[in-house]
Amino acid sequence: MDIVPSHRVRSLSAYAFAVVDEQVAKLRAQGIKPIDFGVGDPTIPTPRLVRDATKRGVEKHKASGYPSYVGMSEYRRAIAEWTTRRFGVTLDPEREIASTIGAKEAVFNFAEAFVDPGDLVIVPTPGYPPYARGTLFAEGKVYYVPLLPENGFLIDLDAIPEGVARAARLMWINYPNSPSGAVAPRRFLEAVVEFGRKYDIIIASDEAYSEIYYTQEPPLSILQISRQGVVVFQSLSKRSAMTGYRVGWVAGDERIVSAFKKVKTNIDSGTPNFIQEGAIAALSDEVHVQRSRAQYARKRDILADALVASGLKDCRPAGTIYLWQEAPEGYLGVDFATRLLDPEIAVVTTPGAWISDPTESGLNPGERFVRFALVPSVEHTTEAAERIRRAKW
Ligand SMILES: Cc1ncc(COP(=O)(O)O)c(C=O)c1O
Repeated sequence: MDIVPSHRVRSLSAYAFAVVDEQVAKLRAQGIKPIDFGVGDPTIPTPRLVRDATKRGVEKHKASGYPSYVGMSEYRRAIAEWTTRRFGVTLDPEREIASTIGAKEAVFNFAEAFVDPGDLVIVPTPGYPPYARGTLFAEGKVYYVPLLPENGFLIDLDAIPEGVARAARLMWINYPNSPSGAVAPRRFLEAVVEFGRKYDIIIASDEAYSEIYYTQEPPLSILQISRQGVVVFQSLSKRSAMTGYRVGWVAGDERIVSAFKKVKTNIDSGTPNFIQEGAIAALSDEVHVQRSRAQYARKRDILADALVASGLKDCRPAGTIYLWQEAPEGYLGVDFATRLLDPEIAVVTTPGAWISDPTESGLNPGERFVRFALVPSVEHTTEAAERIRRAKW
C-alpha cells in the first residue's frame, strides 16, 4: 500500500533548521561549542511563583477531569484584570476571552473559523509561519505583504491592491514584530483598524511580544483602538518564560471569539487546569517581567554594540527577543549566517530567507538579514559579541 500524505502536508517545505543543526554538529565534533542564537526559546527558568502555583494546581485539581474548553473562569478573570491594568481596556471574561494552548495553535487554527477554500488572507513576510500555514491548511490563499526597513517594518497599507483588499477575509499583524523588533505607533494601528472596517477584513493581531520592549512607553494593544472586527492573540511564553507550559488566550470582538470557540471545542479539550493556575500566578506579577525585560535589553545592547563595532548597521530592536540584522555589503543572509558559523566565531543564527517568503513580485524581504534570538545567557552573549567585534566581513 502506498502511504500518501495529504497535499497540504506534501506542500510543506523541509525543516530548514536541519541544515543549521548539521553545521552545529560539525563544530561540536571539532570540540568547538557554538553559541546558539538560532531558535527563540528562552533559556531562563520559569519564575518560581509560576512553578509553585502550578504544583499547587496539580493538587487542587486532584481529580483531573477535562478542563473547560474556553478556560476556567478564574483564568479568564485574571486575563481581563491584567488587560485593564496593562492597556486600560475592559473585557468581558465570559464573552470576549478564550483560553488557548499557547498562541501557536490559536494562530494556526484561527483560519478554520473564518477562511473558506480560496479566501484571501493578508500575511506579513517575514512573519511567524503559522499565519500562512494555518491559511493553507484551511485551503485559503496567502497574499504576502513585505515588512521593509524603509517602512519601519510596518505594513504599507496603501501598497495593497484594491482587488486584494476587497477579496481578503483576514489580515495578520504582529507588533512588537517578530523578527524585526519593530513596535507599532498608534497611527499605524488606527490605520489598520480603519483598513479592516473599510474592506470588511478581520484584523488578527498577534501580540505575543507585547511585554518584551525597550521603549519608554509600553507598546499599545490594538484593543486600545477598537475591538470591533479585531481579535488579539496573547501568550505567556515570552513574558513569563513559559514556552513549555503552552498557555495563552484570544480576546476581542465577541462575534470573532465565539466562532473561534466553536472551532476549539472540536479540536482540543482546553488548557490543563493546573497550567491555568500557573498562568494566573504569572499574570499577578510584573516584577519577574521587568527583570527579564532588563536582561533582554542588556543582551540586545551587548550584541548590537558589537555588530555596529564590526562595521554593520545598527539594527537594535525596539521590542521582542530578536535582533534582525542586515548582513554586510555583498552578503546574503544565508552567506552571513554561514560566515558566523566559522570556527573562530561559532555563532548560530537563522538566515532571514528561512523565515520569510517572497512576495508576488518575487522579492524576499528577509533575504539580506539574519535573525539573532537573544536567548543565550549574558555571559555567552558577551563572548559571542567579543568574537564578532574581532571579525572582518
Ligand atoms: C510572533 C509569534 N507569535 C506567537 C508565537 C507563539 O507563542 P506560543 O509559545 O504561545 O505558542 C511565537 C513564538 O515564537 C512568535 O514568535
